Amino acid sequence: MNTLVSSEQAKILVVDDHRFSRMAAVDLLSLDGYEVLEADDSRDVVKVVIEQQPDLILLDIVMPHNDGFEVCQRLKNDERTRSIPIIFITASDDRNWKIRGREVGGDDFLPKPLDRVELLTKVKLLIQQKRLNEGLDQTERLLYSIASAIEDRSEGGKSFARLEGLAQAFGEYLELTSTEISDLIFAARLHDVGTVCIPDAVLLKKGELTEEERELIKKHVLIGEKICQPMQNRRGVLPIIRHHHERWNGSGYPDGLSGDEIPWMAQIFQILDIYVALTSERPYKLALTPAQAVKTIAEEMEKGWRNPELVEQFTAFIQVTEMRA
Ligand SMILES: [Fe+2]
Repeated sequence: MNTLVSSEQAKILVVDDHRFSRMAAVDLLSLDGYEVLEADDSRDVVKVVIEQQPDLILLDIVMPHNDGFEVCQRLKNDERTRSIPIIFITASDDRNWKIRGREVGGDDFLPKPLDRVELLTKVKLLIQQKRLNEGLDQTERLLYSIASAIEDRSEGGKSFARLEGLAQAFGEYLELTSTEISDLIFAARLHDVGTVCIPDAVLLKKGELTEEERELIKKHVLIGEKICQPMQNRRGVLPIIRHHHERWNGSGYPDGLSGDEIPWMAQIFQILDIYVALTSERPYKLALTPAQAVKTIAEEMEKGWRNPELVEQFTAFIQVTEMRA
């Protein structure tokens, strides 16, 4: 028995300008216990979806005004509706349509006339996936909130938004995959979540740290890795959290990795984190300019701490973005 979704709790929107074909889908889904909404005018769909938040949409392709592809694209580009699965329904089996459907973010296809078993199987599967993703999203949001509260304690609010924005831009500059970029953005918020276990007396200490206190602070990367370990869909973030304090010459922590032993994503993240820290104002320091920050990073490279090739790429990136004008 499936405990993730029951048809009684799920709401499906059927969009089709042909009454008979729309009614066929409505009847099949209603008989299986789904709550079914209908739309026959493609111009109303986005508004209805935003208001009603269905769990899935069955979307005809050939319709007056806006075709199904246009509607799908608008829904998938909107943060409020992007996670709702869309199944295209069409009487055509044109391969190009299937390609186009995937390009605009459609999740699946069903041929008309609808086959009951195929329809109900696909609907059930996609709604299950949506519920699962929503559960993961909620977990991520919870972790984000905890991480924000922790950062507020230590630095008066870290520049998360700036770090996330730079991670996106530098990731694209390096032509990373969307998953790699998303891992960098996720790490922006969570890389120091492990400081939750460091007492205020150590974390906020004004004077010089003792050797013992320094060792305690170093543990934040291992604690952070452990906290984020259960996030099965974010495995790529764990090496970033663990290794964001390694140094190119092996003098960093926690594992003293050197050169290419340091995971590439951790190297990229580290340089972004340092740059944002240098160019942010803190109660105890002024913000450096982009040029000054890049110079400091170059000096750290001279000491052997950073990957020279990456520093070169990052400098070029900052020159064309933050140092323009
Ligand atoms: Fe850290």
